[in-house]
Amino acid sequence: MSNPIGITGYDFVEFYVGSAKMWAYWHAKAMGMNIAGYLGPETGIKDKVSYYLVKNKIQIVITSAVKPSNYEVSSFVERHGDGVKRWSLKVKDVHKAFENSILNGAVPVRNPKKFSDDSGFIEEAAIKLYDDTEIVFINRDNYKGIFKPGFGKHIQKINLDFVETGLNEIDHIVGNVRINEMNLWENYINKSLNFETFIEFGAGDISTQYSALLSKVVRSKDGVPIKNPINEPYEGKKKSQIEEYIEEYLGSGIQHIAISTNNIISTIDSMKRNGVEFLTPPDTYYDMLKERASEISESISELKKFGILCDNSEGNGYLLQLFTKPIGDRPTFFYEIIQRRNGALGFGQGNFQSLFESIEKDQMLRGNFDRDEN
Ligand code: FE2
Repeated sequence: MSNPIGITGYDFVEFYVGSAKMWAYWHAKAMGMNIAGYLGPETGIKDKVSYYLVKNKIQIVITSAVKPSNYEVSSFVERHGDGVKRWSLKVKDVHKAFENSILNGAVPVRNPKKFSDDSGFIEEAAIKLYDDTEIVFINRDNYKGIFKPGFGKHIQKINLDFVETGLNEIDHIVGNVRINEMNLWENYINKSLNFETFIEFGAGDISTQYSALLSKVVRSKDGVPIKNPINEPYEGKKKSQIEEYIEEYLGSGIQHIAISTNNIISTIDSMKRNGVEFLTPPDTYYDMLKERASEISESISELKKFGILCDNSEGNGYLLQLFTKPIGDRPTFFYEIIQRRNGALGFGQGNFQSLFESIEKDQMLRGNFDRDEN
């Protein structure tokens, strides 16, 4: 059966954080997003606040508890720090998607439910993902209001001076899981969502002199651009960035979200001017890249100036990418900015080594590179 889940694309991603207002301001200023909606005491919800931000096809919700009685938010943030609670899939029929996923092994979190107000209704259901993370099925076709019932207009006037970033849509969402969990989650997602595995990085494929990881990428089978890499730590001389994530996040969860742009040079220039910090590749990286210059439309010196990485290790076309430093207080969640050229399908495997060396420099600064001996 083709696309039994009826997925038509990504919908929103929701973060649980310590201060939603500050996180919303950061996304507005740094990413050039518009604060399009708000939910909180002023709209009749007493124990939490949520900001709804939009930029082209990207929809982000940022939520904080304003009273400790909201355990769902406060306990998540106490344990994991600021992080992604759920990502969602637009589906044609929420009941059908949910029932199909449960029949195929998904663990239910919330049964399908309709939420309505004067502007119409939405339908939503949720299944479990890594530890405290969820996947939501949502349909908002019959809703004309702001995002969901309960949301109103943002009540504060903010005049933010930001440089246009040109960020476009979610390209992929990546999870970090514990040793021996990758295959389990690969199976779970593939069965529950009718996905398939299309790239595998095994032992030795992704490693530096000191640390390593395993990775599998699952994707929707039906031509919907939904792709989800799953990373697992692999033995190395030092503590890998995936191990560091699991320790600092206190569990498995979402490591990064990649967002696409049609002009990465201009996007990175803008985001840097908006104050975003990115990982920097070693200078030698661009000497290697010069040897492949004939295949690349962008000028190597421009890429070098902005620290943008380029990879063509997957065959078709090439991709340009760059990773922010972790955006919260813990070294956990970060963003990737990506531009795919000429049908490139990969995830930057050819860049992992130089990228990891850059992450390892930061891990050393945090004192998180050597394993604790006990
Ligand atoms: Fe990525």
